[in-house]
Amino acid sequence: MRLTIRAISNMALIAIALMSAGAFAAEEGYANRGMTLEGIGKAYMGRDIAAIMGADGAAWLDRSERAKEEGTDKLLPLLGIKSTDVVADIGAGSGYFSFRISPLVPQGKVYAEDIQQEMLDLITARQAKGEGKNIIPVLGGVADTRLPPNSVDLILLVDVYHEFSYPREMGQAMVRALKPGGRIALVEYRGEDPKVPIKDLHKMTEAQAKKEMAVVGLQWVSTDSKSLPWQHVMIFAKP
Ligand SMILES: C[S@@+](CC[C@H](N)C(=O)[O-])C[C@H]1O[C@@H](n2cnc3c(N)ncnc32)[C@H](O)[C@@H]1O
Repeated sequence: MRLTIRAISNMALIAIALMSAGAFAAEEGYANRGMTLEGIGKAYMGRDIAAIMGADGAAWLDRSERAKEEGTDKLLPLLGIKSTDVVADIGAGSGYFSFRISPLVPQGKVYAEDIQQEMLDLITARQAKGEGKNIIPVLGGVADTRLPPNSVDLILLVDVYHEFSYPREMGQAMVRALKPGGRIALVEYRGEDPKVPIKDLHKMTEAQAKKEMAVVGLQWVSTDSKSLPWQHVMIFAKP
């Protein structure tokens, strides 16, 4: 059948009408939103989900000004890491934090987990030069950390969680990976503070973070919004 211009424009009108009537169902637990440059067109618990930073952003993660801007040297001492700990740096990116955690856990290990193989390749390239021997790169899935169950003392999430395209499933997967009593350090740019020079979708408020952690069964332990210049450090525990 040949489609006339009129038939094609009628189909387009029907598609627009169906979309505005919500006929294309959102995934369960998520709401459809209009696509933007910054977001993926999907919301979770009222929060628009940010687009994932590609591996071409790795240089920005390793920029020399980062330590001064974000106080990165101050973060790890806040976390009470023990030398025997198993730490998972989820959304590890280029391994900025994995390589800093590695010498703190000489009897433990660091899982550097990310969904982009290109990021893990940057990590293994550094390991090939002799750094971070106790780092284990792990290729995760968008909805699963693929970490062994009940194996992790501390999960570190720096500037990552707001990018999860399946935050509820990732939350459940992180709970599975934690040992009982294990902790998550959720480090996010402060959504309450308009002076933090980061786009809104890449920030989170403390109230939103608490809501999203509570639905996967994590207990809030503490929030430190003063030690770092731009970020909250929020600790949650698996009961
Ligand atoms: C902005 S970078 C932060 C990297 C690192 N945490 C840092 O602070 O240098 C965010 C990283 O999260 C990763 N990511 C996004 N969604 C993920 C998911 N579901 N599971 C694991 N990693 C994810 C991205 O591939 C990207 O490397």
